[in-house]
Parts: sequence; structure tokens; C-alpha cells
Amino acid sequence: MTVRHVTESELAELRARYVPRGITSAHPLTVDRAKGSELWDVSGKRYIDFAGGIGVMNVGHAHPRVMQAVQEQLERATHTSFQVVHYESYLRLAERLCEVAPIAGARKAIFFSTGAEAIENAVKIARAATGRPAVISFRGGFHGRTLLALSLTGSVQPYKQDFGPYATEIYQTPFPYAYRGWTTQAAMADLENLLESEVSPKRVAAIVIEPVLGEGGFVPAPLDFMRKLRELCDRHGMLLIADEIQTGFGRTGKFFAMEHSGVQPDLITVAKSMAAGFPLSGVIGRAEVMDAPDPGGLGGTFGGNPVACAAGLAVMDIMRDEKLPERAARIGSVVEERMESWAKENELIGDVRVVGAMAGMELVRDRKTKEAADKETAKVLATAREKGLIILRCGTHHNVIRTLMPLTIPDDQLEQGLDILGASLGA
Ligand SMILES: Cc1ncc(COP(=O)(O)O)c(C=O)c1O
Repeated sequence: MTVRHVTESELAELRARYVPRGITSAHPLTVDRAKGSELWDVSGKRYIDFAGGIGVMNVGHAHPRVMQAVQEQLERATHTSFQVVHYESYLRLAERLCEVAPIAGARKAIFFSTGAEAIENAVKIARAATGRPAVISFRGGFHGRTLLALSLTGSVQPYKQDFGPYATEIYQTPFPYAYRGWTTQAAMADLENLLESEVSPKRVAAIVIEPVLGEGGFVPAPLDFMRKLRELCDRHGMLLIADEIQTGFGRTGKFFAMEHSGVQPDLITVAKSMAAGFPLSGVIGRAEVMDAPDPGGLGGTFGGNPVACAAGLAVMDIMRDEKLPERAARIGSVVEERMESWAKENELIGDVRVVGAMAGMELVRDRKTKEAADKETAKVLATAREKGLIILRCGTHHNVIRTLMPLTIPDDQLEQGLDILGASLGA
């Protein structure tokens, strides 16, 4: 291995001088390399990775099957644009995703590069299919940073505060977040109220929901809420869009989180872990809905890049052969046991929410008032980093510690990471 002579402080200076402060890094260190569930910084210090590049590395860093598929595709063609000539990796990946999508009947899939683009296009498809303008999304939801995706996002700090005006015909309603007082009944009542007082259901093209709020704090939507949402959509001819960008690809113990409720969405957005770090996103949906936009209405120069699609096909094989959704469920039970035991001893932990390997701990200063312990959360993350664990937080109040470790993480590294997290909480 080559010896690197660059120092952390040199690189920190470059960052400060040439990169705007608007893009933050959760941890002030410079990564040199990553493998499996481990990272090394430029000084050679090793970390266990519970962040996975924000939920992108479900198959782990540099999985040999991904690397091989990518290398083979690199030798053949790196880009032609699907809008000029089509290629097999795109078509095969569309087939594979349609096979696993929890949607009945004929399905189709289209690819883009980022999660935000997938969301934008899901809305375009829903509007074309219904001929209606309005879209409903949830408070606390996160759907990306482009203008329409940001308009759908329900969180001001840091995402929305400086960037309006936002797209019109977007309506927001409370997410069923029981810990903060929003039961299924209360959230449904507010949604029904929205449809009576603000926008006619006849004008609503779609409701967009994350089955488990990601950036909004790792809050699972109760299964009966998802079922009621489906009924409401059916009653009014609205489409249901499941944003599975963070929850998909095995993270919650099923390939798609929607499988937990058995509710079938009309459209699903995917990105993140789909191609193990290569920029790739997509929309999968009922064929007749997907075919609503006229030819030429959908696309993008880079969408469905052949190298990214080759990586995506390898990811599909790994998910199946290594049974990663099942592995996620096992990881989740180990993590949940630890979090619940910390919660018995540590008053700071107000709530523990676990769906497969998507586990979150909400930290509060007082269990009665539920005042968000945002500074304390930041301190736990910094202590964990010093001890060799990279982990992220989320939540509208930045007080939820969340796990997004690779699902391929070996048991000993999982235990080691949890030991560090436990010690950091104690500290
Ligand atoms: C649920 C969800 N939707 C959309 C996005 C946006 O994806 P991207 O950052 O790739 O545009 C994210 C990113 O965190 C997400 O978690």
C-alpha cells in the first residue's frame, strides 16, 4: 500500500478555503479508504462504519462482486445515454426490480441518478397519470434538495429556511409520530381535515410517504396508518407513492419496507443502496401509471448510467444470495436489545424505534417534557468518533441517533460498534 503524506489539517484548510459552508460533514475527518464495514482516515486511524454513506452501503464498501461487475462494465462502455441507445444492464435491472416490487400486475421501472430526481419524476408521472396538480406529503418527511423535492420536504432547519419560494400545489399533513403525540387517528383526522378545508381530493394526484421517516427521525408509520392511507387514496383516485430511498434494499428486514404492511403503493422511489455508492435512482410502478407520460417526457442525460446499473445488478444478486433482508432483521434484534438495555439505565433515552437494521434512539433532556437533547446527541456522536465509530443523527430536532451500518457487517464488528456507542452514551 502507498504511504500517504497528506495531513488532516492540510485537507481541512482546503475544505475551509474552497468548499462553501452550506455543505456540512457530520464528522471532521478525511477518509482515505473503506472496506466492508470499516473506514480508515488519512492518518491511518480505523473506524467502524454505522453510517454507510447515509444508508448507501447496505452490501458494504467495495463488495468484491460489485467491484467485478463495475470493472467489467468499465471495459465495455461507461456512458452512451439510454436516450441515445439502450443497453442490457439497464433493461435487466428494470426487470429485476419489477420482479421484487410489492405491486400487483404489470410493472415498469425507469432510472435516474439521485434520490431527489426519482421523487421529481414520480410526481411528474403521477400528475401525467391522473391529470391532477396537487401532491400531499408529511411534516418531518425528507425527499431531497431540488426545488420540487424540497417543496415536499417537511423540515425547515437546515433544509428549507433560505431557499423559497417553493412549488405550488404541495400540501403537508402530520406524520403519525406517536411519541410526539400524533397517533394514527390524530394524523388521519388532520389529513381528512386537509382534504375538507384546503384542497379537494379531486385535485390531488398523489400522497408521498416514507414508510419509515428517515431524516425525520427514524419513525415507522404504523401499519394501520398505511392501510388507511391506501383506502383513502382508492376512495379518491389518488396515487400512493412510497419513498423507499432510505428504507429499501433490505434495510428494514424486508426488501421494501412497504412489505411490512402488505399495502401496495402505485409508485416506489429508490436510490441510495441500489448501486452500492454509484449514483443511481429509480421509479418503479404500475405499468399503466408509468406509461402515462408521453415519449420524451421522462429521462436525463446520465439517468441509469451503465456502470451504475452493472453495480445495481450485482447488488440485487448479493441481496438474494447473502439473504441481506433476513440479516437486517437479525442485526435489528441485536441493536434493539442493546438500546432497550441502555434506555433502562439512561434517562437521556426517551424512545427506541427499531425496524430491522433501521434503528433509532431519541435523546431528550427530560422524559416528561421530551425536550430534544440535540447538543447531548452531538456530543455522543463526537465521543463515538474519538473511540472509533462513525454514526449519524437525524430528526427534526437533531436528537435521534440512527444506525445505517452495512448489512454485511460481521458480528464482532457489530458488537464492537455497539460497545463504543454504549460507552459514548455513558460518557
Ligand atoms: C427518503 C429520502 N428521499 C429522498 C432523498 C434524497 O436523495 P438524494 O440525496 O440522493 O437526492 C433522501 C436522502 O436522504 C431520503 O432519505
